[in-house]
Amino acid sequence: MKKICLIPCESAGTIDPNIYGHFSEHIGGVFRDGVWVGEEANVPQTDGFRDFVIEKFKALNPPVLRWPGGCFAETYKWRDGIGPREKRPVTMGWWYRDDGRLETNEVGIHEFVHFCELVGASPYVAANITGMTPMDMRDFMEYCNAPAGTTTLAKERGENGHTEPFDIPFWGIGNENWGGGGNMTPAQYARDYIKYVTLCTTVNLHGAKFVACGANAGDYGWTDGFMREYAHRVPLYALAFHYYCGGAGDCVNFTKEQWDELVARAGKLDDMIRRHSAAMELHDPDRRVKIIVDEWGCWHPGGSGPSKGFNLFEQQSTMRDGVITALSLNAFNNHCDRVVMANVAQLCNNLHCLFLTGGENAIVTPTYWVFYMYKNHMGASHIRTAIEGGGLSASASEKDGKITLTVANLSYDEDTEIELTNFSGRELPDSAMVTILGGNPHSHNSFDAPDAVKPLEPVQIRKKEGKFILTMPAASVASVVWSE
Ligand code: AHR
Repeated sequence: MKKICLIPCESAGTIDPNIYGHFSEHIGGVFRDGVWVGEEANVPQTDGFRDFVIEKFKALNPPVLRWPGGCFAETYKWRDGIGPREKRPVTMGWWYRDDGRLETNEVGIHEFVHFCELVGASPYVAANITGMTPMDMRDFMEYCNAPAGTTTLAKERGENGHTEPFDIPFWGIGNENWGGGGNMTPAQYARDYIKYVTLCTTVNLHGAKFVACGANAGDYGWTDGFMREYAHRVPLYALAFHYYCGGAGDCVNFTKEQWDELVARAGKLDDMIRRHSAAMELHDPDRRVKIIVDEWGCWHPGGSGPSKGFNLFEQQSTMRDGVITALSLNAFNNHCDRVVMANVAQLCNNLHCLFLTGGENAIVTPTYWVFYMYKNHMGASHIRTAIEGGGLSASASEKDGKITLTVANLSYDEDTEIELTNFSGRELPDSAMVTILGGNPHSHNSFDAPDAVKPLEPVQIRKKEGKFILTMPAASVASVVWSE
């Protein structure tokens, strides 16, 4: 029998709630007919935002939302998205060549911040540093941050409906600057980072945190090159890398081998965090700079979502994506001494999404439910777990008198029984509540079957001879909660 042991005396620290962060880009259907339907729509909405998404998203307590890209950020002109909506310019955004859809600028900084307010998330803006000068970015920050009624930009913000500062807590300096964001070398980018932050710091009135563009997946040379040149010259909260895994068959129709392949690829995240951390430590032995995983998730071939390919990169989401969500969140939890934020890509009608929508239809995906089942980990004290037997991923934490263990059964077709024990002298309570999601690797929700995948009713398990036995079907995720 497999075993998971909880080791409360070993902890990586507090799990930053921002590890449960999200990403929303102006691309395909993320906003269009997704999160945003417009104030005239016949779909239930609040100030143009789809009520279904507001209500369900809010239920996850989303801590942070990154916007407006992604690649789109590097062509974004913030002034195009302010002022009366009907007067905003229609432009060719970053993705125009890929899907032929024009950018209407209906959702600008005011709308984005309003959506964050509606769902209770902190806004995180990725700034354009390819097309915007450091002074343009400084103006953007002044527009967002300057105290009410002070500068001309603060007054303009007031005239546009928001007298008080937006107080944006996170600013990303560029996006993928090793690629679409200027094809820079790490040293070139570090120089740009220093320049933008030097200037923007002078209008950073609310202690916003600056985030630098990190590597593409396992490019440790980028991490090393950036950290060497950066050398703590200006403030830096975190270095943010991106990791997508894909190339293992169709989203819904995949083989057992392709399942194993993708799970193995996603599993690299753990080692990747360790190695980026080591590369950073060479230049930052005190670990002042943290790690963010700015974009993560599965990237399958497009066309499997409800729009049948109309929404760029939209994909269905099966229990394979659900299990990979669980595995990734477990990895972030277990590295909470280093990882302070992670943003799943992307929120709606796109890659590894939580929502699929179209017209009046709207559903949540297995990924949504995994975030739901993992909520207790946000802001909790991490507990180290040791796994015996392989084929599992786990993490545990403690908060408000509750110990939560989350487990993914990484097998395509084998159910499993797991003995749960506690290493330290402290006894676990006599019973725990277990919630299970999944059991069929291909299962997914659709507009016709919106509840095909959802968590089962929690069941109680009781301690017998000092142990608990957790039974998990293949391709499933479990949360086990002990309450005092
Ligand atoms: O999420 C889709 C794209 O993937 C983002 O725009 C970009 O940052 C990444 O390459």
